[in-house]
Amino acid sequence: MRLKNIFVGIKEDIKQLESVLTTDDKSNGVISICGMGGLGKTTLATKIYNGEAVQRCFKYRAWVCVSQQFQPKTIFRRLLKQLLPNESEEQDKDTLVRKFYQVQRDRKCLLVLDDVWEVDHWNCLRRAFPIAEADSKVLLTTRNQNIASRGYVHNLKCLDEDEGCELLQKIAFPNNYSQDSYTEIKLLEEYGREIVKKCGYLPLPISVIGGTLHHEKASIEWKNVCRNLDSCLENDKGVNQILDLSYNVLPYNLKLCLLYLACFKEDEEIDIEKLYLLWMGRGESLRDVAERYLFELANRCMVEVEIDKLPLYNRFKSCRLHDMIPDFCLSKGKKEGFLETLNVKNTIRLPNYIYKMRHLRYLFLGFLHESVGGEKLKLEGLNEVEMITGFNSLVDDITHLLKLPKLRVFEGRIFYEESLSMIVDHILNHQEQFRDVQLNIDMGVNMDSEDGSTLLKRLVMCHSLHYLSIAYCRVSKLPTYEVQLYQNVIELQLVDTRIEEDAIKILEKLPMLRVLGLRRNPYMGREMWRVEKGAMPNLSNLVIAKCSKLKMIPDGLEFINTLKTLIIIMSEEFVKRVGVVDGEEGEDYHKIKHIPFIDIYYYD
Ligand SMILES: Nc1ncnc2c1ncn2[C@@H]1O[C@H](COP(=O)(O)OP(=O)(O)O)[C@@H](O)[C@H]1O
Ligand SMILES: [Mg+2]
Repeated sequence: MRLKNIFVGIKEDIKQLESVLTTDDKSNGVISICGMGGLGKTTLATKIYNGEAVQRCFKYRAWVCVSQQFQPKTIFRRLLKQLLPNESEEQDKDTLVRKFYQVQRDRKCLLVLDDVWEVDHWNCLRRAFPIAEADSKVLLTTRNQNIASRGYVHNLKCLDEDEGCELLQKIAFPNNYSQDSYTEIKLLEEYGREIVKKCGYLPLPISVIGGTLHHEKASIEWKNVCRNLDSCLENDKGVNQILDLSYNVLPYNLKLCLLYLACFKEDEEIDIEKLYLLWMGRGESLRDVAERYLFELANRCMVEVEIDKLPLYNRFKSCRLHDMIPDFCLSKGKKEGFLETLNVKNTIRLPNYIYKMRHLRYLFLGFLHESVGGEKLKLEGLNEVEMITGFNSLVDDITHLLKLPKLRVFEGRIFYEESLSMIVDHILNHQEQFRDVQLNIDMGVNMDSEDGSTLLKRLVMCHSLHYLSIAYCRVSKLPTYEVQLYQNVIELQLVDTRIEEDAIKILEKLPMLRVLGLRRNPYMGREMWRVEKGAMPNLSNLVIAKCSKLKMIPDGLEFINTLKTLIIIMSEEFVKRVGVVDGEEGEDYHKIKHIPFIDIYYYD
């Protein structure tokens, strides 16, 4: 399986680069790792970034993937966030850049810019780095020789034959193969050498082919692969050809799963939960299937997975794609007529002609989009659309939404009862159609009345509802838990809902709840909250923020052993009780000390 920890070679590269990075020499303020896609630049940079030498030398480090969709502001924001995690987020670009520059002068930082594509991109970014003025350094990886022309350049080389064979073998036969007959092994080795050569000694294609041949001991199969591989000349087209080969031998459903990955960005850390939802929709048994699919794709080296160290719920923690996979999936999907994707997440003003794209299957809208001309965005006639994210009932035509026959994944923000009621009715009447519904109910929906609570009850009857956020709406009471309600709600966020009843009693029972956010007085009245044994059996993330009525961490929280993350933003008093000051544990500390990741802040 393609786990992150199979490495061959690169020891010398690491040594050299570590030495350049940790030597104070201002003429080497920018260090580039250069070479074609799939050569192992990101892998090498990661090793160095996480290595002891660099960690010792640079206390402040930040990593960002620049990639083709170049957005300077996002890049600076991400980098700064890692250097100064407590800094507030909203800032205009100039302030950001100024701060960013300043930090690098004041402190010794290492900034990694992974996969810089264009000279222009680098020219645009470099002004924000005080190169030659500070002890900070920049490590960048690129395919573009012209970017790497200044500063210290490390041209990464291909693997040599032995390293290539070692990699192929480690991936194809993770558990060795020594018990087999001698002649057979010799044959495999022979074909293996041929394959490595045809892969141009590049780690990416070698991994992918190794994955295709996973556990395959019949030399005839090796021979076939070998024959089908036209020599992979040293360009990206060759790598694509190899991806193609591996793609063609995938079983049909794995093909589909893989093509869905076109929705994600290269190098983005993909949330496993999101991925499973996208593939499968609801249902525990289907979840297992999704997990197996991911396992299969990882075995074939089409994705890279990280195993969860606390495998209580998930076998995998996260998953990542190589740079070339999303593009490959997109072009493949188009060719095969599987998918048409429109990703306008970063476009704010949209021309109102999306509805003409009749083959559209996936539509990703940005959080803040609006339509040019102010008319509601038309969606009518998008008969192939299966997935819409970023819908906004103030901007997009909700009546059109209700006419999309294939829509099965929906994420949107709904204002006003009328819209909410329309959408809830629609989903309830088409339960079989919808796989995954994620709703943000926002201002203007009044659930204080009799009608309001009926509406809410109907909403939580939807099987496909996985995520629900209610923010800045009055809710007098949550529907009481019954078997048919809240069946698949995985995440619930309540913000300023001021529920009058005892909300916790209900929340405790939700069978699938994994993430719970309670912010700004989600409920009133109750000062104490006791967690009973067996309550919230799946909870893994909990946020408690500005709940002024809550005086302390609930008793019994220590029973929820599935909890992995706890974030607290509460009064100083509250916070004092949970922290450890000068080795002295606060009186509530024992309730949370079993949680692996805890973040605590207080507010005035
Ligand atoms: N030295 C190596 N040993 C084993 N596998 C490697 C090595 N270098 C790269 N790989 C694998 O090859 C693939 C491509 O590597 P990556 O670093 O993403 O390439 P690049 O950033 O140059 O495009 C990844 O799956 C990675 O795990
Ligand atoms: Mg890379």
